[in-house]
Amino acid sequence: ISVDIGHLISERDKLNFISLSDFNALENKYGHVFKEFQMSLQGKKSYLTLSLEEERSIPAIKSLAKNIAAKYENVLVLGIGGSALGARAVIQYLKGPLYNLIQQEHPRLFILDNIDPVLVKYYEDVIDIGKTLIIYVSKSGSTPETAALFIHFYHRFKEAGGDTADIVICCDPGDNGINHIAKSLGCRLLHIPHNLPGRYSVLSSVGFLPSEIIGIDSGQLLEGAHIAHQSIISDGPQQNALFALGASLFELALKGKSIHVLFNYSNLLSEFGLWFVQLWAESLGKKQSLANNVVNAGTTPLTCLGATDQHSILQLFKEGPADKVFGFMKINNVADGIQFTNEFPTEKEYSYFAGRTMQEQLHVEQLATEMSLVKDGKPCYSITLKDVSPKTLGGLFYFFEALVVFTANLWDINAYDQPGVEEGKNITYSLMGRQDYNHKKSKYEQEVSM
Ligand code: PA5
Repeated sequence: ISVDIGHLISERDKLNFISLSDFNALENKYGHVFKEFQMSLQGKKSYLTLSLEEERSIPAIKSLAKNIAAKYENVLVLGIGGSALGARAVIQYLKGPLYNLIQQEHPRLFILDNIDPVLVKYYEDVIDIGKTLIIYVSKSGSTPETAALFIHFYHRFKEAGGDTADIVICCDPGDNGINHIAKSLGCRLLHIPHNLPGRYSVLSSVGFLPSEIIGIDSGQLLEGAHIAHQSIISDGPQQNALFALGASLFELALKGKSIHVLFNYSNLLSEFGLWFVQLWAESLGKKQSLANNVVNAGTTPLTCLGATDQHSILQLFKEGPADKVFGFMKINNVADGIQFTNEFPTEKEYSYFAGRTMQEQLHVEQLATEMSLVKDGKPCYSITLKDVSPKTLGGLFYFFEALVVFTANLWDINAYDQPGVEEGKNITYSLMGRQDYNHKKSKYEQEVSM
């Protein structure tokens, strides 16, 4: 992964960019926060590094995956938020967007993350539930959407004569309803490290099991994370890409760049973009109490796909509010078998393609978009991924997780909690009539009507 922040820095427009002298001062301003962050990654003080210890769970996951792959035509993962988005990003990056249509050796893999009955029905039309293994992923084990999907599919699976002992439950090791159910049904249980929040769990059984089932080596994903970890903890602020990017984005947020756009120039990265949106938003969008003041921390993440979105939202990016910072992401070494032939040599709109490749065009368009934004005073950075491999992807996950945690430290907020999301769950429980939340219903209703 290489990071280039050159287009966040400029002398010509101090409102929209960071000047070179301000950039050089970042180390003085935030270097101590970064050093503390680095130290936390070396001790036992960070939840972020819990994933790095997940090596020990890989052998059991590999053997479970092998077993499942031999027995089932389909795998249906039920989960939401951090229990779905990471696995989706892995599959898309390493197996492509059409995996289920082209796979032959491994089961088809579906990840269902919504309780829209219309969507559920479509899934049921496509998969034969009797030949489908259910993997229920919920850290808390109580998220109402995933619980609802599980109740439904458990019933359907049983009805179809499935062996309920084959169902895999992936959850926190605590004393909760889903652990009780798993034990009483004799399901296969995989635990997620206790303090690892959902959106940081892709490098654990949550991402590893679906990956292994479709033939992706989770050990390689983890190795990439270890490599990223080493470089994050080894280099001082001045040589550290994570420091430079995190501190610059924070500085730009203070200048009013309240929207962080990740513009991905590869279809292999569009699911990664959604994973990033969750990680960034849920970790950084927090109320921060300063003396008697409450400040709303964080910036709003957005993800776009190039070249497609050059023909829609780019217009707003260029001429709409100057409240955004842009990150461009591209992959260097992809299989590029498409070279244009000279089909229409007498037509200037077509002849210039001759001999160029489609990948070259995509890279040129990324550069052109970045240039056109920078020219208009919009700060941009870019990330180049070396190749399409589990190692690179594992490193990318870890880099972004670390970037988010460091940024949270700069905001002085907790990157790992999500009180807003929890409150939404609690109101749902009370409105749905969950016994232990019934008494809160009138309180919630009163607060809304005030
Ligand atoms: O990051 C988080 O904590 C959340 O987005 C969770 O992933 C999401 O709410 C699903 O929670 P759970 O895995 O407990 O079902």
